[in-house]
Amino acid sequence: MKALVLAGGTGSRLHPLTFSLPKQLIPVAGRPVLELCLENVRELGVREVGLIVGEHAGQIADVLGDGSRFGLRITYLHQDRPAGLAHCVLLASDFLGDEDFVMYLGDNVLVGDVTAAAERFRAERPAARLMVAKVSQPSCYGVAELDADDAVLSVAEKAEKPPSDLAIIGVYFFTAAIIEAARGIEPSARGELEITDAIAALIDAGLPVVASRFSGMWKDTGTVEELLECNRSLLSELPSRVDGEVDAESVLRGTVVVEAGASVVRSTIQGPALIGAGSRVTDSRIGPSVSIGQDCVLTGAGVTDSIVMAGATVRGLAEVTGSLIGRESELDSTSAPSTHRLLLGDRSRLGLTAGPAR
Ligand code: TTP
Repeated sequence: MKALVLAGGTGSRLHPLTFSLPKQLIPVAGRPVLELCLENVRELGVREVGLIVGEHAGQIADVLGDGSRFGLRITYLHQDRPAGLAHCVLLASDFLGDEDFVMYLGDNVLVGDVTAAAERFRAERPAARLMVAKVSQPSCYGVAELDADDAVLSVAEKAEKPPSDLAIIGVYFFTAAIIEAARGIEPSARGELEITDAIAALIDAGLPVVASRFSGMWKDTGTVEELLECNRSLLSELPSRVDGEVDAESVLRGTVVVEAGASVVRSTIQGPALIGAGSRVTDSRIGPSVSIGQDCVLTGAGVTDSIVMAGATVRGLAEVTGSLIGRESELDSTSAPSTHRLLLGDRSRLGLTAGPAR
């Protein structure tokens, strides 16, 4: 079995951050989402990965290289515009040949067992085995309607009246039949070749399409809220580890990781929290649910429930919360403490200065 991992797309729901950084490389609990995805792919016993990349291909290749670090061989497949998930299947048709494959969305994080579904797919080889999970707002997702034996009766994409509350999550097992099905579909109203339309074509042709219910943690990291939720969840599973320096005036509470070369001075770190290698945290209150990337500087700062990316500086902002702060951003404040919720792209600059009361 091969893998087709999708790491193109627009990431428009995370603009402006995704103008300079593909969303699949946003670090969650210190690791790019795409690395977690490749580790999961490797656990399925797959070695050959076709990786769909778009405008940020260079950055992705810099991080992943040829895949050998993950025990994988990566073939990069360039998509010149995000024309839909079924378009990715068509683009990869030469790479896939007539082999079975797992299609994995590179912005999805799954913690839990997918190997059982992979084994059943290998043994039974239906045209498609989907992974589904119960969601509270099915109209926001592609959903599948199942019979009592978990055969898929119908699928619908972001329907006003969805036929079930089972969302199709970002891991799909396919035989080469999906390539033929994708060749026969037309772009949807939003101009994309939808994978749900290709799956519906398999069902219409009478081919077996089945589903496995996923009971673990699953997150699509397409929005700020979803990324932060995923960050909270993965941080809480990290074991505490202090490889950097923490002075006697600092307090660490709960699960805290201080990576090598990081220093914590006169600060309180409330776990779960991660202080990345080489970062300096001084006179600050960090956490809970905060990931600080490598080589950041936080001075007199208060940060909760946020992801601060590599090389960023935060000085004097007392209540940063629910925020994503891009690489090498500089935030500076001398104003009175107030809450800030920020979505800042790389190299942003924010200066807040106390002024006369209005
Ligand atoms: P989406 O999150 O559905 O699409 P997007 O990345 O364009 O995001 P937004 O809606 O915020 O603009 O994509 C799911 C995954 O598939 C994600 O990893 C990007 C990838 N993808 C491609 O590689 N090519 C494509 O044509 C599309 C639509 C998505």
